Amino acid sequence: MSAEPIFRENPSRKILFLLSFLSLISLSKTNDLQSLLKFKTSLLNSNTNVFNTWTPNQNSFCNFTGITCNSDQTVKEINLSQQNLSGTLPLDAICSLQSIEKLSLGSNSLYGIVTEELSNCTKLQYLDLGMNSFAGIFPDLSSLTQLKFLNLNHSGFSGQFPWKSLENLTSLEFLSLGDNPFDWRPFPLEILNLHKLYRVYLTNSSLQGEIPEGIGNLTLLQNLELSYNQLSGKIPEGITKLKNLWQLELYSNQLSGKFPNGFGNLTNLINFDASTNSLEGDISETKYLTKLVSLQLFENKFSGEIPIELGEFKSLTNLSLYTNKLTGSIPPNIGSYGNFTYIDVSENFLTGSIPPNMCKNGKMSELLMLPGSIPPNMCKNGKMSELLMLQNKFTGGLPENYANCLSLNRLRFEGPLSNNVGEAKSLAQLFLSHNQFSGELPATISESTSLVDIELGSNQFSGEIPATIGNLKKLSNLHLENNLFSGTIPESLGSCVSLSDINLAGNLFSGKIPASIGSLRSLNSLNLSHNELSGEIPVSLSSLKLSILDLSNNRLMGRIPDSLSIEAFVGGFAGNPGLCGDNMRNLQPCSSDSGKSSNVRTVISCFVAGAAVLFVSLACFMYVKYKYKPENHDLPIKRYSSLDMKQFHMLSFTEEEVMNAIKKENLIGKGLEYLHHGCDRPVIHRDVKTSNILLDEQLKPKIADFGLAKVVQPNGVWDSTHIIAGTHGYIAPG
Ligand SMILES: *[C@@H]1O[C@H](CO)[C@@H](O)[C@H](O)[C@H]1NC(C)=O
Ligand SMILES: *[C@@H]1O[C@H](CO)[C@@H](O)[C@H](O)[C@H]1NC(C)=O
Ligand SMILES: *[C@@H]1O[C@H](CO)[C@@H](O)[C@H](O)[C@H]1NC(C)=O
Ligand SMILES: *[C@@H]1O[C@H](CO)[C@@H](O)[C@H](O)[C@H]1NC(C)=O
Ligand SMILES: *[C@@H]1O[C@H](CO)[C@@H](O)[C@H](O)[C@H]1NC(C)=O
Ligand SMILES: *[C@@H]1O[C@H](CO)[C@@H](O)[C@H](O)[C@H]1NC(C)=O
Ligand SMILES: *[C@@H]1O[C@H](CO)[C@@H](O)[C@H](O)[C@H]1NC(C)=O
Ligand SMILES: *[C@@H]1O[C@H](CO)[C@@H](O)[C@H](O)[C@H]1NC(C)=O
Ligand SMILES: *[C@@H]1O[C@H](CO)[C@@H](O)[C@H](O)[C@H]1NC(C)=O
Ligand SMILES: *[C@@H]1O[C@H](CO)[C@@H](O)[C@H](O)[C@H]1NC(C)=O
Ligand SMILES: *[C@@H]1O[C@H](CO)[C@@H](O)[C@H](O)[C@H]1NC(C)=O
Ligand SMILES: *[C@@H]1O[C@H](CO)[C@@H](O)[C@H](O)[C@H]1NC(C)=O
Repeated sequence: MSAEPIFRENPSRKILFLLSFLSLISLSKTNDLQSLLKFKTSLLNSNTNVFNTWTPNQNSFCNFTGITCNSDQTVKEINLSQQNLSGTLPLDAICSLQSIEKLSLGSNSLYGIVTEELSNCTKLQYLDLGMNSFAGIFPDLSSLTQLKFLNLNHSGFSGQFPWKSLENLTSLEFLSLGDNPFDWRPFPLEILNLHKLYRVYLTNSSLQGEIPEGIGNLTLLQNLELSYNQLSGKIPEGITKLKNLWQLELYSNQLSGKFPNGFGNLTNLINFDASTNSLEGDISETKYLTKLVSLQLFENKFSGEIPIELGEFKSLTNLSLYTNKLTGSIPPNIGSYGNFTYIDVSENFLTGSIPPNMCKNGKMSELLMLPGSIPPNMCKNGKMSELLMLQNKFTGGLPENYANCLSLNRLRFEGPLSNNVGEAKSLAQLFLSHNQFSGELPATISESTSLVDIELGSNQFSGEIPATIGNLKKLSNLHLENNLFSGTIPESLGSCVSLSDINLAGNLFSGKIPASIGSLRSLNSLNLSHNELSGEIPVSLSSLKLSILDLSNNRLMGRIPDSLSIEAFVGGFAGNPGLCGDNMRNLQPCSSDSGKSSNVRTVISCFVAGAAVLFVSLACFMYVKYKYKPENHDLPIKRYSSLDMKQFHMLSFTEEEVMNAIKKENLIGKGLEYLHHGCDRPVIHRDVKTSNILLDEQLKPKIADFGLAKVVQPNGVWDSTHIIAGTHGYIAPG
């Protein structure tokens, strides 16, 4: 439109109008520039180069990085998210931008409080201050009536959020307030008025009490996340009206009761996680959720069977149902479609056999606790890395081709072992304890040369230990206890140079204890009890530094080697009527060559008595010497330290005698003190027994068996996540 007709009509009035209009624009333009420069000033300490373009001499502010203008050259948007901004938020400047609609400053390092001046930003539609380091209470929002998007996620806001001020913000579509340390409060009913909401993220935002029925009014919701709160009561039936939901996250709350009727109407669900609650009843409602990709219901009280329909879900990749009370079998078709990668159904009461097509597509990366026999197609393409199948009651066996799993590093399941076990070259841990496995240990196991742990305890394995077991040079733990193994213990066991823990108790092993065991330098624990072992105890065992020795209830005979005749092991010889030992309780003395031996005994007794006198005199001497020495505060402490016992070793007492002499409390004290204070990440040991305290060659205590230890956070707060700090290692105190 040209100006000509206007001039013709009423020139002077129009000119006046035009001039004043132009000056208004230029006034607000000057204001906007000033506001932006003020904004820049308060963030000058940021490690960023975005302000390089913010030079009013060379650039219109509409060309500043992160600024978008309206057609009338007023600021419409500030978008400086993820720009390393650091400083306080100058809301007085920002909210004097008359036309600002979008303020996006998420993922920076802004700090300080967000001030009341926010209420001047009345045109704001989009506010993202998430992922910053603010503090204090968030101000009232009620004047921001145009607001559609509000993200304050993980930004340090505390106290009470002004929920009331949201009640009329009916344009709101996106609401994310999670991961802020707010005060605990009930679910905010105000949001039930905000019918346009499609995404609600209130994870970890201190909500308690029930989820209201009215949640069903938010029918546009696609994504509802309420995890990590203390929400209790039932999942409301209203939730079944949210037919657009594709993601529902309710994990880590205190929800109880059954799935509401009609839950199966949520047929658009793709990700559903209600793990770690107290939900009960069956999970049959899930059978309608055919689009599911991830279904996680672990750590609840669900019972009944896994719906057979789950096997037909073509997109399902993750299924985690562990620690419930589920019965029946796993749907046979599970894993036969698409990209199935993860299943954990452990710690249920499942029976039956393992689905045959679990690994058909070779994408499986973890397979936890499957019931029954293991499918033939498992791991056809060798992609599986974990297989855990615990505490169910599966029957059948492990399929031949599971050994295709070249990447497998951890295996837990039930059933006979496959002959191909040796082809799993990277298998480091074979955990099959407490199952109903049967059959023999295949000789090929000795080809799995990466094996560190073999734990097959409490099954029904039979047959002999393969003579080739000596090939397993990395093997540290061999637990075969409580099975039906028989035959002799192979001499080659002595070639498994890394062995620290051998438990063959409760089997049918016969013949002699192989002398080669005495050459296992790292052996800490040897338990061969409750077998049918015969012959004498090899003298070679004397050179071991054992903390546990249990040879009880066998048919061993003859003299117990002297260095094993110590109080700590006394129970370890019980139930062998043929064993004798001279200085031990509950054991018959060795009588065969009595005349000579009693002479020897007398000599030894004299020697011991002499040594004791020598020891006492020496102790008195040292005491006197140190007591009257010039003050030295270090010495008394050192003197009582168990670590100094080495000097007694010099007096040619055996190490075992020294070990016996050392007060157990003293060692435990040392060990625990180390655990609590001696390393960066303190460990609280929950299974304190003397057998967990080991000695190394220097008689320094080591702590063994971290299986039950919990890691606590450095500030002394218990970590709820039960991090296991390693199972069989030991650490020598600094
Ligand atoms: C943010 O800081 C990091 C290092 O401090 C730097 O590498 C990065 O380039 C910075 N980002 C921007 C947008 O300036
Ligand atoms: C903004 O920048 C563009 C090129 O980047 C330039 O053509 C334009 O003149 C600039 N506008 C102003 C008002 O500075
Ligand atoms: C902000 O800018 C970044 C890239 O510059 C863009 O990816 C993002 O979508 C923008 N955010 C908004 C809310 O416009
Ligand atoms: C902005 O807010 C402050 C206090 O909230 C008020 O005093 C001031 O008048 C407001 N400014 C404008 C332009 O509305
Ligand atoms: C909220 O922040 C967390 C990190 O604290 C992030 O993982 C999550 O994606 C964010 N969610 C939303 C909706 O912004
Ligand atoms: C919301 O609107 C109602 C009705 O107009 C009004 O009574 C109430 O005070 C408003 N709430 C807030 C927080 O402004
Ligand atoms: C919960 O939010 C706090 C911040 O308030 C954060 O430090 C913590 O990591 C969050 N917890 C989880 C489990 O995400
Ligand atoms: C839910 O919607 C119904 C009808 O639209 C209404 O009567 C009811 O008050 C709403 N409930 C809540 C909690 O907003
Ligand atoms: C879906 O909801 C309707 C009532 O709205 C109900 O009759 C039907 O049984 C529900 N379907 C499923 C699969 O639960
Ligand atoms: C599925 O499980 C894998 C392996 O644990 C995990 O990396 C992935 O994030 C999970 N996917 C979903 C959608 O939960
Ligand atoms: C499997 O994953 C691939 C790549 O992520 C995808 O293209 C394909 O559609 C998925 N298959 C199924 C059945 O979901
Ligand atoms: C030896 O193993 C058996 C079976 O596991 C166990 O009952 C016994 O307590 C163990 N002996 C020692 C001394 O730990």
